Amino acid sequence: MATLNEEIKRRRTFAIISHPDAGKTTLTEKLLLFGGAIHIAGAVKSNKIKKTATSDWMEIEKQRGISVATSVMGFNYGEYKINILDTPGHQDFAEDTYRTLTAVDSVIIVVDVAKGVEQQTRKLMEVCRMRNTPVIIFVNKLDREGRDPFEILDELESELKIAVRPLSWPINIGAKFKGVYNIYERSLDLFTPNKQKVTERVEIDSVDDPRIDESVGETDAAKLREDLELIEGVYPDFDEQEYLNGKLAPVFFGSALNTFGVKELLDCFVKIAPAPKPIQAEERLIEPQEPDFSGFVFKIHANMDPNHRSCIAFVKVCSGRFERNAPYKHIRSGKVMKFAAPTAFMAQKKNIVDEAFPGDIVGIPDTGNFKIGDTLTAGEQIHFKGLPSFSPEMFKYIENDDPMKSKQLEKGIRQLMDEGVAQMFTNQFNGRKIIGTVGQLQFEVIQYRLLHEYGAQCRWEPLSLYKACWIESDDAEALEAFKKRKHQFMALDTDGRDVFLADSGYVLQMAQNDFPKIRFHFSSEF
Ligand code: G4P
Repeated sequence: MATLNEEIKRRRTFAIISHPDAGKTTLTEKLLLFGGAIHIAGAVKSNKIKKTATSDWMEIEKQRGISVATSVMGFNYGEYKINILDTPGHQDFAEDTYRTLTAVDSVIIVVDVAKGVEQQTRKLMEVCRMRNTPVIIFVNKLDREGRDPFEILDELESELKIAVRPLSWPINIGAKFKGVYNIYERSLDLFTPNKQKVTERVEIDSVDDPRIDESVGETDAAKLREDLELIEGVYPDFDEQEYLNGKLAPVFFGSALNTFGVKELLDCFVKIAPAPKPIQAEERLIEPQEPDFSGFVFKIHANMDPNHRSCIAFVKVCSGRFERNAPYKHIRSGKVMKFAAPTAFMAQKKNIVDEAFPGDIVGIPDTGNFKIGDTLTAGEQIHFKGLPSFSPEMFKYIENDDPMKSKQLEKGIRQLMDEGVAQMFTNQFNGRKIIGTVGQLQFEVIQYRLLHEYGAQCRWEPLSLYKACWIESDDAEALEAFKKRKHQFMALDTDGRDVFLADSGYVLQMAQNDFPKIRFHFSSEF
């Protein structure tokens, strides 16, 4: 039997992120194909919410329901155990994605060669940067007309604010696309448009090898040599440690749809991507190799069927061996719990598992005990941190529309907030409750679920706010003075932290100027 250490070393837990339509679903599917987890392309139910469905959020929830199965995709690839954590494509659920990023050890970013860096990619990269998550970039759709690769590299560097280093290089693009030169492995991969089969590879000795000219023609071979010379001149050698520190992103080029450049990406990924890393708890640093189990809940998936009200809590194993039916302590409640039916996610199937290791995700059936961010341990009193909330983009007052059901409403709101559906703030001036979301859809989801799961009716009332800022200061007096001056705009989040509700960018700017001793944060982790 493999030791705990061996199990940890072979694990690679990561997420693929992109702006919608860049090719995340296609790439995920091709990776599963290589891992033998599926056998034909088209088998992965897209977690993407089709553009046409954006007004029909019930359809979206249905798709989210399907996506429980694809929330975590585990498979073996050679000696490695790979866990891909899926992230919702729709931007209204961006907060889900941020939280998923707290449970991964690295990330692959997919960028469309024609579109370059898009808005959502930029935002997700900010989250990666906050946590120094190692990033690999896959530039996709080389079979289509797109931008000059050097231009793309410059844009990646300036827009994503990370140093880049190409590890493969395309020969032409679009209709003239002939393949990529694999800088990392020194080989030439020739492109034949094909949705199922893998690339033809030409082994070469060096960039001067005449086999390159034979394969792609003299003109393109000469251009390739020129490009490579430029790359060697401009970009320093690939530094693996810099990558692991989250400071340097290796870049690959390919076409996910044509399964081109995907295996090369995967082969390099398993070699350089980090195995589960130590995780900082409030009390101390937790090493994955420690024998005692610890983990945290990063996602709760509710069942939309009112007859089956159970949820699945997704627990990331941080240290030790997780065992079925072993007594574990739920730190927030202090209760000891045993889990008879934890599930693992292998090859897109949910199976009951007897054990799991750091880097793995276990799904635990739950009936309302868990809250996002909860810690489970073998007994030690520790709290994992690092599940930040970001300032919502949209705000509304939530009001009770059925006075007979105020208890139900309160309970419903509390549980939905525990699940992380949205954020709630309580205005200290008038006591009204404010729900903050990333997008309009979340308000509809909340209203529907309150009615159908809790029998409560809510009504939304408009509230125009720019940002919710968490505030702090080393100077207690200054903090009090600020709160007094802005008392109409002060609120508490569900953890009782002070939040300033700024109704415009100007007001926020003025507040920052007038109160230099106060620090304003756009996320709850600081
Ligand atoms: P997403 O999850 O990031 O949103 O993107 P997804 O993989 O669904 O890909 C978006 C569209 O781009 C899909 O086409 C997909 O087939 C296409 N695509 C992905 N990779 C490549 C590539 O390397 N080359 C080309 N030419 N296209 C690619 P669609 O028409 O929107 O969807 P579908 O009807 O094909 O599923």
